[in-house]
Amino acid sequence: MEQTLVLVKPDGVQRGLIGEIIARLEKRGLKLVGAKLIQVADSLAREHYAIHIGKPFYEGLIQYITAAPVMAMVWEGENSVNAVRQTMGSTDPVKATPGTIRHDFALLISRNLTHASDSPENARNEISLWFEKDEIVEWQRLNEDWITGGN
Ligand code: CMP
Repeated sequence: MEQTLVLVKPDGVQRGLIGEIIARLEKRGLKLVGAKLIQVADSLAREHYAIHIGKPFYEGLIQYITAAPVMAMVWEGENSVNAVRQTMGSTDPVKATPGTIRHDFALLISRNLTHASDSPENARNEISLWFEKDEIVEWQRLNEDWITGGN
């Protein structure tokens, strides 16, 4: 089953939005299989955002993500990468659709509350960067068929 990495960034943690963000993903029907609150090391931040090295916002982005704790999570479900990104909304909050997390709670790309993997391949890489194998919990939802069943 497809998994994706979600980070509630320091602004989301500081603003008390962890619960709101988890609630939206849970209600969507996604399954939480890993979660931890961590103070991000400079080295982890730089590895996670290596694709942005050299961009004008890169050093500021590293400072932002390491400035205070981050809630790191792994969410599971069919098409979870696309589903989570849809629930988050566009990276730039003023381009995000009403009803998405970034539209509803953010204004600036530099304080956009969350990170979500942008492809299944990047999700696999990011999950292995942020989580040990034994930190991912496989569990069964009793109502699974009412959420993911076919007809
Ligand atoms: P994220 O989805 O974590 O991926 C890269 C992050 O870089 C992005 O969210 C924003 O937090 C940040 N970012 C992207 N573009 C800019 C920008 N122009 N200015 C500041 N931060 C940016």
